[in-house]
Amino acid sequence: MCGIFAYLNYLTPKTRLEILELLVNGLKRLEYRGYDSAGVAIDTPDGKDMALVKKNGKVKILEDEIASRRDELGANETVNIHVGIAHTRWATHGVPNVANSHPQRSDAGHSFVVVHNGIVTNYKEVKTFLEKQGHKFESDTDTEIIAKLIHHLYEKHPTYSFRELVEQVIQQLEGAFALCFKSKHFPGECVATRRGSPLLVGIKTKNRLETDHIPILYGKDGDNNHQEHRPHGRGELPTLPRSESTSEFQPLEDKEVEYFFASDASAVIEHTNRVIYFEDYDVAAVKDGVLSIHRLKRLTDDPHAREITTLKLQLQEIMKGSYSYFMQKEIFEQPESVVNTMRGRLNFEDGTITLGGIKEYIPEIKRCRRLMLIACGTSYHSAVATRQLLEELTELPVMVELASDFLDRTTPVFRDDVCFFISQSGETADTLMALRYCKLRGALIVGITNTVGSSICRESHCGVHVNAGPEIGVASTKAYTSQFISLVMFALVMSEDRISLRQRRHEIINGLKQLESQIKQVLKLDQKVLELAKELYNQKSLLIMGRGYNFATCLEGALKVKELTYMHSEGIMAGELKHGPLALIDDSMPVMMIVMRDPVYIKCMNALQQVTAREGRPIVICEEGDKETMSFTDRALEVPRTVDCLQGILTVIPMQLLSYHIAVLRGCNVDCPRNLAKSVTVE
Ligand code: G6P
Repeated sequence: MCGIFAYLNYLTPKTRLEILELLVNGLKRLEYRGYDSAGVAIDTPDGKDMALVKKNGKVKILEDEIASRRDELGANETVNIHVGIAHTRWATHGVPNVANSHPQRSDAGHSFVVVHNGIVTNYKEVKTFLEKQGHKFESDTDTEIIAKLIHHLYEKHPTYSFRELVEQVIQQLEGAFALCFKSKHFPGECVATRRGSPLLVGIKTKNRLETDHIPILYGKDGDNNHQEHRPHGRGELPTLPRSESTSEFQPLEDKEVEYFFASDASAVIEHTNRVIYFEDYDVAAVKDGVLSIHRLKRLTDDPHAREITTLKLQLQEIMKGSYSYFMQKEIFEQPESVVNTMRGRLNFEDGTITLGGIKEYIPEIKRCRRLMLIACGTSYHSAVATRQLLEELTELPVMVELASDFLDRTTPVFRDDVCFFISQSGETADTLMALRYCKLRGALIVGITNTVGSSICRESHCGVHVNAGPEIGVASTKAYTSQFISLVMFALVMSEDRISLRQRRHEIINGLKQLESQIKQVLKLDQKVLELAKELYNQKSLLIMGRGYNFATCLEGALKVKELTYMHSEGIMAGELKHGPLALIDDSMPVMMIVMRDPVYIKCMNALQQVTAREGRPIVICEEGDKETMSFTDRALEVPRTVDCLQGILTVIPMQLLSYHIAVLRGCNVDCPRNLAKSVTVE
């Protein structure tokens, strides 16, 4: 997904080379989000124009281009005050190429340039309007209309401030966006804003800031300023009221200051741990080194200030360490990440569980009509994996929904529903929209996310941070096992006063306690999995079958294989074998089967026999020492036994390893699979 990074240095001298390195480095930190082209904009050495460097492909290619144009870019010159903006683009409108990559410009003279994450849905209307005004477009992007529109407004209202112009622009836009602007007419100033896409600013000063918040300034005319005025393709734009502030900017104590605007904290953390997460409709402007945050409309529960948060994230946490790929590191981190998910929550001594973020809401949740678990991709599979246990321990109906389909169906939701939104990034557009849909209908909103400060966190009534640590590989691994455990812990909390479930809860808590060492044991299968990968990597397809508690592993395993290796793969409910999939079986079709000694063991064995009877040669994931199951195969991956409802955590790990090894053997880009993004912030 697109990544925004902007750097503003105020009275902190830097060479252009340093600035360019900083911008490129910021983009590298955002690479994991997925992208197909990249670009930067800085001032030209004479200060009269801007230089845009844009390249199709990897940030490295952009870096090489910058290196080859060092002299022209005035790399060795020092600047006291400067704004640079940078972007990684993930194509939505128009193919990946230089013209479509960002920054997008208003005109050949670079009056305004902008970087954008998100989609402007009414861009065609605005484009038609601007074309009628004589503007010529050079890209296929929705973003270009933003650069042209601000220029148009600037020419119409030359006395408006940069911030006011941006405010005028965003009132004309529909859709989702985070935007960062730079202008030749406002040197040393930067304006950034968001609606639906994430954005934050890191603040670096020599001395620690006296203040821990930035006051929010509201438009003078309150609600009137927030009317939606849109161009209709003809005529002039409606003139919107100016939004002078009700109060003056509150300067920061320090004069020398650096600002880092970014889509997420990983791009900022190496410079500063002091950040402000922006909210929808915030317009943040830096002028004369002073940051102000402005909102056109004051809502009843709007705060008076945005807090400056101190990030606890360590840079090492987002670095690869000794691993070849982030995904590999994240798979091997699971013994620790699962413990982090339980830390401070699960007391193994007395078997109590406290989920601080939802504690107060438990009585309300217990009274609800049903639980709905809504998510996309891997996060959705964590809901599939835990549904059975939730039904058992809560005795409530549990619906498990793909966010996109849930929205397509305009599913009925009621005030006495409790809706869980599960998301690693906390920014997935479909999940977020489903959240807003349910919130509007009065349901209780519970967020299960891995990203503190994300949109889903902020918009939920309550929630659980899964605490898996930053996940960089596009294909989710450790977040899945941590989401799984978070939902198991929730089920345990819901059943804590049920005497009849005491024994069951005890078994599960004991199982959770053993997980760390059992995961370590499963990870020892790595070499064996590599051997299997060597056998499979030239195949066209891989079927993965199972049922009951391990069905989610089939879905998640197949998703991992697809996204990482570009091989066809399908997770098949073994109970459906006779209803179609059996037709695929012969001696050459690669099949994996998960057969654990749980309540559906006999049924799984039945499926295994049916497959082998058709000359299928399945690779089996089974319980350690299960000779009976292994007698049907010459290739088995044995995992330790745990309580049935946790077994999926141990069976998914060989699938993560297998997809990883196949991807490496096929020469695929493990951390950034083609066409995919870590955080899908568009529908
Ligand atoms: C993308 C990622 C997946 C992820 C899914 C949901 O497709 O590539 O790894 O499972 O989004 O993301 P979320 O951040 O909401 O868990």
